[in-house]
Order: sequence, then structure tokens, then C-alpha cells
Amino acid sequence: MTSSSPFVGESTTLRIIQISDCHVSADPDALYRGQSSDANFQKILHLARRWKPALILLTGDVSEDGSEESYERTSGLLAQTGLPVLALPGNHDDVEVMSRYFRLGPWHGPYVMEVENWQLVLLDSTEPDRVSGCFSASYLERIQTSLHDQGKGHTLVALHHQPVPVGAPWIDRYMLESPARFFEVIDQSPRVRCISWGHVHHDFQVQRKGVTLLGAPSTVANSIPGAQRFTLDPAGPACRWLELSARGEVNTGLLYLS
Ligand SMILES: [Fe+2]
Repeated sequence: MTSSSPFVGESTTLRIIQISDCHVSADPDALYRGQSSDANFQKILHLARRWKPALILLTGDVSEDGSEESYERTSGLLAQTGLPVLALPGNHDDVEVMSRYFRLGPWHGPYVMEVENWQLVLLDSTEPDRVSGCFSASYLERIQTSLHDQGKGHTLVALHHQPVPVGAPWIDRYMLESPARFFEVIDQSPRVRCISWGHVHHDFQVQRKGVTLLGAPSTVANSIPGAQRFTLDPAGPACRWLELSARGEVNTGLLYLS
């Protein structure tokens, strides 16, 4: 599915806030790994707005339990920002329920939005009752078609699961399966400049064949990078900012609460 931008950007640099792994539950008082999902999500959103992005990108596990209530609260707060919200599901999300609260996303195949000099390609790497990610052969074909069909400019691909190990065994057990098949498709599209995901609950950045690969932190609880087991990072919740230049450069960093 392809969509033109619902807004007109004022600058040629596209500013995006990536929010990931909020793990909000039906109960607003619920804790995730001992932290308040709701309170931390609201604080991160406040921080994100002050950075003045053109849009917000949600990379999955918005919900912990796939409940209506969790999506109702998160989408309601996001709507208050007045910003376009692009969303894709994680393994904790209920795709059918989530799609009713977030209109722009890969609900019927890869979702493509063209904005400024960029194409944003959102993918659904989830399968029901599966923690790790996977793409079927037919879905990979659809990704290939999406990447080849779209016109000019540069491409950012977003998904939930990491397609490369991030060096943390507790979450690398559940990365994207058969990543070589995914990269076969990616490598055929020279316009791809960046691939960004969630799921890993910590910062990650590496270059691969000139493409910037990024893992985003969680808005509720992060783990110390490289830890064997989830080990709460005292640096606290965070979100990623991205500045995508018209020439295809990718600048990025994190916004922390503390
Ligand atoms: Fe996840």
C-alpha cells in the first residue's frame, strides 16, 4: 500500500521521532520490568514533541497485552501531538486491534509513504504466537515490489525485529529469522539508506554496505547493551531522533528522560 504524505514539510530535512517498545497494558497502573509503562510513555512523548519532529514512527510492542485499552490510550495521547503517526506491529501487539487505532501502517502488506525526498517503508515482521520475526516468501516479494516500484529519492525501511544480531543473547534469540533472504531483497535496492527497528530495548548502530542499521531503545525499560540477560539500564527510557537529509544522509541520536 502506498500513501502520499498527509502533511507538507517545511524543510528539506525530514525530522522523525522513533518510539518503540512502550509495552502499555490494559491497566494504566501496570508495571513492565518494574517500570511504569504509561508514565514513561507520556514523559517520552513530551520530550519528543519538544524536539519538533515532522512525524512519529512507532516500531512495535506499543502494547504489552494487545488490549483495546492500551491502544486507545496510546493513540489518544499521540493524536494530541497533531503529528502524523506511522505504526508497525511487534510480537506483543495484536495486529487486528492495533490497526483499528493506527491508520497508517503495514496492515495489508508493506506500507510506503513518500515524504520530502524519502520513502518510508514499514514492514510487519510478526507472526501470531511467535516471538521471533519472519517474512514469508510472498511477503519478501511484496517488499521487493515496494522498493522497486517507488520513484525517486532515498529509502528508510522500518520493522520490529532486528535483522542482524545486536550482541545481546537474551534478545538475539528472537531476531528476524532467515535474515539473508531479507538482505537479498534490500541489497537489490540502492536507494535504501537506513533500516531501523525496535524489539532490542537498547541503542544499536552499525553500517552495512553503506546502509545505516539502527536499533531503537524502549520508552519504558532498557537493557544494558551487550548483556547476556535483560539487565535494567539506569540510563532510563529513551526514544530515537532521525534527521534525514534530502541528499540521503542519516543523522540520528537518542533522547533520554534523565
Ligand atoms: Fe518485541
